[in-house]
Amino acid sequence: MTKRVNYIAIDLGSANTRIYLSDQGLALDEPSVVAVQKKDKYGQILAVGREAIGLVSGASSALKTVWPMKHSVKANFPLILEMLELFVDQSVFSCDIQRCVLMAMPLFLTKAQKKITLETVVTQTGALLGYFIDPNMAAALGAGLPVTTPTANLIVDLGARTTKVSVISRNKVVYAKSCPEGGFKIDEAISLLVREKYHLLINDRQAEDIKRRIGAASPSLQVDYLEVQGQDLFSGQPETVNLDSEEVFTIIDERLKSIIALVHSAIERVPPQLTADLAARGLVLIGGGALLRRLDFLLSVETSLPVRFADEPLTAVVKGCFLSK
Ligand SMILES: Nc1ncnc2c1ncn2[C@@H]1O[C@H](COP(=O)(O)OP(=O)(O)OP(=O)(O)O)[C@@H](O)[C@H]1O
Ligand SMILES: [Mg+2]
Repeated sequence: MTKRVNYIAIDLGSANTRIYLSDQGLALDEPSVVAVQKKDKYGQILAVGREAIGLVSGASSALKTVWPMKHSVKANFPLILEMLELFVDQSVFSCDIQRCVLMAMPLFLTKAQKKITLETVVTQTGALLGYFIDPNMAAALGAGLPVTTPTANLIVDLGARTTKVSVISRNKVVYAKSCPEGGFKIDEAISLLVREKYHLLINDRQAEDIKRRIGAASPSLQVDYLEVQGQDLFSGQPETVNLDSEEVFTIIDERLKSIIALVHSAIERVPPQLTADLAARGLVLIGGGALLRRLDFLLSVETSLPVRFADEPLTAVVKGCFLSK
């Protein structure tokens, strides 16, 4: 009798970590964030994910949140590993079934860091094997695209730290490229706009909130407004400004330029025999950053292709890791 194997699929994302188990489906979907003591540079983790955010917002100023994959990954690598171990602990429980780990890693980790990360999870879960999964193939599989057929599958994954574009056909990644643009950079640009134009300091969560509520990839006829409270740069006092969607659009538009160039570069690489197919099937969007309002519209105008979202754009990569088994 062959023994059943349980698969543990993990998408370690710079903003969100997702874990998918063969016997359970999506078992964990949490922000890649930890809570530590403010004074500890690489301090002991007190909580991870949403619990970390809740702990810091409700607690004394002695605690802070750290997003270990947002800035200097090198310095925060031990924190990334520890955070991941805690996520695995929360979702994978001990059992005597054989296990196999399937993992998509952030592109910015070094080869050695990827190896250590996979080995850590394999050891922690007592798995027999662990495999790196190509995030582009995972994205296409998770989006339900017909990767094995001789068609052109163009997929755009707009994440928090990187945007990945790939063309997949006959079970092969024909073309793949990425750029260091995504949701984090847009949030930073919004913070900068508020600081330079209104001399107001806001935090990362406020910047993200502005993006989600009045940010867009192309202008609309109706202007939306949002009241934002921050700290005046000069007086240090709380101050409120009224932001409008037009000024937010202007700075988002600037950040989207390299993403559009990346998509164009992929389209140019589609083999001539597949261009008619591409024109009919269009491109598929995944990743949280792709939820930016009217991004699908902007990309369809820029590329003259039909654009659609995968059914589950946020969990396509982790599901695709699992499906690659
Ligand atoms: N409605 C929305 N509008 C705009 N941006 C959004 C929206 N919802 C989520 N996002 C952004 O999506 C990003 C997170 O997406 P995702 O979970 O795909 O990233 P990730 O996989 O962790 O990142 P990466 O793949 O770059 O490592 C964040 O920057 C978040 O602000
Ligand atoms: Mg991702």
